[in-house]
Amino acid sequence: MKIAVVGTGYVGLVTGTCFAETGNKVVCVDIDQAKVEKLAAGQITIYEPGLEKIFLRNIKEARLRFTTDLASVVDEAELIFLALPTPPGADGAADLKYVLEVAEQLGNLMKGYKVIVNKSTVPVGTADKVRATITKNFKGEFDVVSNPEFLREGVAVDDFMKPDRVVVGTNSERARKLMSELYAPFVRQGNPVLFMDERSSELTKYAANSFLAMKISFMNEIAQLCEKMGADVDMVRRGIGSDERIGKRFLFSGIGYGGSCFPKDVQALVRSASEVDYDFKILKAVEQVNAVQKLHLVEKIKAHYNGNIRGKHFALWGLAFKPNTDDIREAPALSIIAALLAAGATITAYDPEAMQAVKQALGDTIGYAQSQYQALEAADALIIATEWSEFRTPDFERIEKLLPSKLVFDGRNLFEVSKMRSMGYCYISIGRPQ
Ligand SMILES: NC(=O)c1ccc[n+]([C@@H]2O[C@H](COP(=O)([O-])OP(=O)(O)OC[C@H]3O[C@@H](n4cnc5c(N)ncnc54)[C@H](O)[C@@H]3O)[C@@H](O)[C@H]2O)c1
Repeated sequence: MKIAVVGTGYVGLVTGTCFAETGNKVVCVDIDQAKVEKLAAGQITIYEPGLEKIFLRNIKEARLRFTTDLASVVDEAELIFLALPTPPGADGAADLKYVLEVAEQLGNLMKGYKVIVNKSTVPVGTADKVRATITKNFKGEFDVVSNPEFLREGVAVDDFMKPDRVVVGTNSERARKLMSELYAPFVRQGNPVLFMDERSSELTKYAANSFLAMKISFMNEIAQLCEKMGADVDMVRRGIGSDERIGKRFLFSGIGYGGSCFPKDVQALVRSASEVDYDFKILKAVEQVNAVQKLHLVEKIKAHYNGNIRGKHFALWGLAFKPNTDDIREAPALSIIAALLAAGATITAYDPEAMQAVKQALGDTIGYAQSQYQALEAADALIIATEWSEFRTPDFERIEKLLPSKLVFDGRNLFEVSKMRSMGYCYISIGRPQ
């Protein structure tokens, strides 16, 4: 099939590359000229495990190309995917300006039947708005389909190639057929393509992300209780996770959720609910708990130094909002950095993939190390903010030499408390005995 993907960021690039991988001819469109030039030259613009190999293969096979010129791709494409930003507006609602701008352009460019597939996370009713915007300029036949994306950064290629489910919102039989054909290679193991109406599909995405964010905030509140009651959140997690109704996944407490999706999607659903006079109480609490949790580790650090960290120097391991990505949007590490700097501390950070993005955002307000061990030089303590695999089994002898204080604040509960104690560390983590 001939496909255009408009917006070539984390979702668009993975979507376009994976559709090309199953034999489709894909053109990815973006307004960011520098990004398109890089991609067209075979340079990948995001860190996503497994992506580069298939990206290069499909460029070589001429199934994947990149352009800034939307007008040049519309005629050929049967399906046009929108993978555009939907950032929070001033009131918390998803800002649809990027999606509707492109819809406006499409209305001017379309000459015949197309399926416009919305992969961006958008509020209920957006498909209607996209349809109305296109109709202003194009009076022919077309369909607008909702096809929310559930990939997780860090495992995006696997998630896209073998999705747990594909959700498609449409009432059009013609669009349904095309979408079934397109996704058939991705669900050969029998995972469902769930067809539904557009509104249910749009809401499904928000419900999924909000539910996951709720799990995280719930476990973070349990961790707070554990600290006050002398219980161990790891034990409680195992105790409840083995109940099939609860499940083992997504039960880790830590320093709160971040990333480009959960914070904005929870906020947007609260806002959408209020627009129909519904007060989404649980989700408001989810947000409040997360805001507190993002700074919980900083509170512990301050408490350790009796409230005064002015002049202290910290090594910070991990900047990305989660492992295996270079994405720092809403990363808890950034909140921790801001709070520590505001309190007069200094920081040297290390992250395997996200340093470039942080350098662009924070410049020289913090120092950057070449390795996790170099970050420890002259530090008063180590802070862990992202659970990269390489931080999980470090060389403790080397750490001891570089960090004589043996003081570790771990926001991701990477190590066994008893082991750290037996090695003589002062180890402060989340929801566990100190
Ligand atoms: N990142 C994720 O893990 C994830 C997962 C599921 C859903 N989503 C949703 O997918 C959407 C895209 O997210 P993302 O993380 O890929 O965003 P992103 O910011 O990484 O990428 C968006 C891209 O769109 C481009 N763009 C903006 N305006 C354009 C225009 N008029 N024409 C062409 N390109 C334009 C930008 O230059 C950018 O490259 C959002 O709605 C997000 O909520 C994201």
